[in-house]
Amino acid sequence: MTSQHPGVDTRAVHAGRADLTALGVHVPPIDLSSTYPLPDVEAGGEAYDQMAGGGERLEGQSAVYQRLWSPGVARFEEALADLEGGEAGVAFASGMAALSAVLLACVGAGTPHVVAVRPLYGGSDHLLATGLLGTRVTWTDVDGIADALEPDTGLVVVETPANPTLDLVDLRAVARGAGGVPVLVDNTFATPVLQRPLEHGATIVLHSVTKFLAGHGDVLAGALVTSDAWAERIRPVRAVTGAVLHPLSAYLAHRGLQTLPLRVRAQQESAQVIAWWLAGKADVQRVLYPGAPGCDPAGLVGTQMSGPGAVLALDLGSYRRAAAVAQSCRLVTHAVSLGGVDSLVQHPAALTHRPVAEDARPAAGILRLSVGLETPEDIIADLEQAILAANVLEDQRQEHDSLV
Ligand SMILES: Cc1ncc(COP(=O)(O)O)c(C=O)c1O
Repeated sequence: MTSQHPGVDTRAVHAGRADLTALGVHVPPIDLSSTYPLPDVEAGGEAYDQMAGGGERLEGQSAVYQRLWSPGVARFEEALADLEGGEAGVAFASGMAALSAVLLACVGAGTPHVVAVRPLYGGSDHLLATGLLGTRVTWTDVDGIADALEPDTGLVVVETPANPTLDLVDLRAVARGAGGVPVLVDNTFATPVLQRPLEHGATIVLHSVTKFLAGHGDVLAGALVTSDAWAERIRPVRAVTGAVLHPLSAYLAHRGLQTLPLRVRAQQESAQVIAWWLAGKADVQRVLYPGAPGCDPAGLVGTQMSGPGAVLALDLGSYRRAAAVAQSCRLVTHAVSLGGVDSLVQHPAALTHRPVAEDARPAAGILRLSVGLETPEDIIADLEQAILAANVLEDQRQEHDSLV
């Protein structure tokens, strides 16, 4: 790299690859070893202690076992930490595994109380609400964080933009409310291209790498970016619970980072066009999108976030209409997940947020749309025909109801 402060596009292409030329290769080698030769018993034991204790593999050490360390995973971690501006990355088999590791670290440290701001992704909400891992949660809004803290609070959890309603959270206000308590920010929707929470007071950034970072719908992965000290607390939990990222998935996720800035910007541009079109449709009651009027009262787009992103939600007013639109899409796939190259639509109340307490569940008329790389006019045409098809279905139902 030649410039003093390489831009995000340059770093996305080159991060985690500095040694490739010296290795005589152009792309990262894929090492699938589940186990590694040990030079002798003592050196093996020392390497085990180093990595199981939370450290990174030292130069010349055996990696011992894939659950402790794997070179391709370490490359991906280094690259993501670079993009987020953190000291260390720790990758996992999924976003939920990453959250679980942080919660278990808090429980292990005797600080099992979590303060969390809704909305969160349904799985995260469910994990916290059930206390499955030994945590207990207090739900609050940003203004209530300071009052919700207890002597054993180990973590404050927020998501911005939040899944599925795209609510924005002011991270500086969260950090102020949290005092010295660590703040975990789920940055899955924004990605480091649009928002770097560590610059706004976060302690730990969480990603469902499955989404924009990997970006092609063929990887399930999660990651944390944080300080070296936190990474050292988290790695032993990952090693002992075994929720590691597979090296092939790490390779694909690392490759996904190279086009991340381009994809996010292109998808965001289309999302803006689609949000404006939806806002003009009489059949759509509300468009929830950080770039839409009224959706960013605190002015966080342009300050905390550099752009509104590529996910939006639309409120069609009723479960029946929302379901009919989702099921009538042809180009846009009716499927959960988001952030890939192809557009996906799904019904949060019925799917991703199904396990959320009824009073905190998204409205039944809301659909979440992840805008892909297709020509935006084609996505609009598909939504148009789906809305028309839903109208026809609704008319038929009303006619049927009036006859029975
Ligand atoms: C915002 C957010 N965080 C976390 C997760 C969980 O990630 P994963 O599905 O990779 O476990 C998801 C999944 O949809 C998500 O949307």
